[in-house]
Amino acid sequence: MTKINWAGFAKKNPKERLSQIKPLLSKESHHILENHVLLKQEIASQMVENTLGTFALPFSVVPEIEVNHKDYTVPFVTEEPSVIAACSFASKIIKRSGGFKAIVHNRQMIGQIALYEIKDTHSAIKAIEKHKKELLAIANSAHPSIVKRGGGASDIKTNLIEDETPLLVVHILIDTKEAMGANIVNTMTEALKPYLEALTNGKSLMAILSNYATEALVTANCAIDYRFLNRDKVKAKELAEKMVLASNFAKKDPYRASTHNKGIFNGIDAVCIATGNDWRAIEAGAHAYASRNGRYEGLTTWRLDEANKQLLGEITLPLPLATKGGSIGLNPSVLVAFDVLGNPDAKTLASIVASVGLAQNFAALRALVTEGIQEGHMKLHARSLALLAGSLPDEVAFVVDLLLKEKHMNLSTAEKILEKYRNNILE
Ligand code: HMG
Repeated sequence: MTKINWAGFAKKNPKERLSQIKPLLSKESHHILENHVLLKQEIASQMVENTLGTFALPFSVVPEIEVNHKDYTVPFVTEEPSVIAACSFASKIIKRSGGFKAIVHNRQMIGQIALYEIKDTHSAIKAIEKHKKELLAIANSAHPSIVKRGGGASDIKTNLIEDETPLLVVHILIDTKEAMGANIVNTMTEALKPYLEALTNGKSLMAILSNYATEALVTANCAIDYRFLNRDKVKAKELAEKMVLASNFAKKDPYRASTHNKGIFNGIDAVCIATGNDWRAIEAGAHAYASRNGRYEGLTTWRLDEANKQLLGEITLPLPLATKGGSIGLNPSVLVAFDVLGNPDAKTLASIVASVGLAQNFAALRALVTEGIQEGHMKLHARSLALLAGSLPDEVAFVVDLLLKEKHMNLSTAEKILEKYRNNILE
């Protein structure tokens, strides 16, 4: 495995960083980064409708996230300052305590066919169960290429929704291998529609993939020694206890849970975007999962292991991530992202992303229950303010320095500092 010396990475400029991570990159990826090769206009306009151009965002990496005893350099695409610093900070502490352990419980997608106007739902359910094998064969023959790759439809279940107009919902479970599988699932469910209508003597309302991917759950854990939380033993224990309280807060109060989970998605979305994954699908599934107990809850749990003097963290969420298909092969930046990650398979990518979510939450909670979020976040946000105020690259450091000393750190203060600097009337 290629070893990188990460010393001073954060403090270098992009050109120096590129030369530092060169050993991780293929020739093509290096060329893409060095020459700022981006998604071509011709490709972009074939991907979606009414295209005018392309849209750029910063592409960064978090070094050395250890997952299941292996280090990963993880690509992040985000516009938000302090997210990458926070994840790097957390991953470093967690690595010292043995890194993340992640388990992919399953990796199957769910398709739904909703049927209505069925006269005898009991007989309809029995008929579906009796013809399960035949229905699976019909689904698989609609998308033979996924079967050739070792995947395909594997099970069928039913769910009766009692309502004014009852709905009989047929769930089909499909192993989509390395793909997110929306097309595979939708093709299969649509192919089943006429057969299910005939079998149940009902009408089909719709056939579509479910983003509530409960058959693609991933869990990441970490166990952080108290001694890595703070050199002072008392403060370290106090921090661990506050993290547990913060975790309980997010379990009990949806107002807090929403922000807690937003922080988790700061990292998860950034990796999803970098790897060309459908982050709306991942968010929708995870938010539904966060509500599985009848109330919207925080996705992570932090508790104490007093005997081993450790703070234990855990996250579980649906993560049906893809390494193939969709727009993944079209965007040169996505190629670089996979290269940097060491081209993991879909299950490994899901393990890394769940770990990123837990790291992000650790950093945010630690900051919230200690110095508060503004200190770290605003330090890094000051750079965005300096740029927004119109500072040129060689003026940024100067404006940031003065901005950090100000009571009201905002755009108008940044503009005033820059104006004074340029007029050379600084005291
Ligand atoms: P610090 O203690 O000042 O950091 O914390 P440090 O300067 O001692 O550096 C420690 C390590 O952090 C560094 O190690 C880097 O790994 C990383 P080193 O390289 O020095 O060996 N690091 C950086 N990496 C890249 N660029 C940087 C950088 N600075 C530090 N500039 C830190 C500073 C920002 C890490 C800390 O204050 C923190 O974690 N804050 C939390 C920030 C956060 O969570 N931001 C997300 C946005 S806020 C939000 O939307 C979510 C929220 O609402 C969620 C919720 O409520 O749960 C908060």
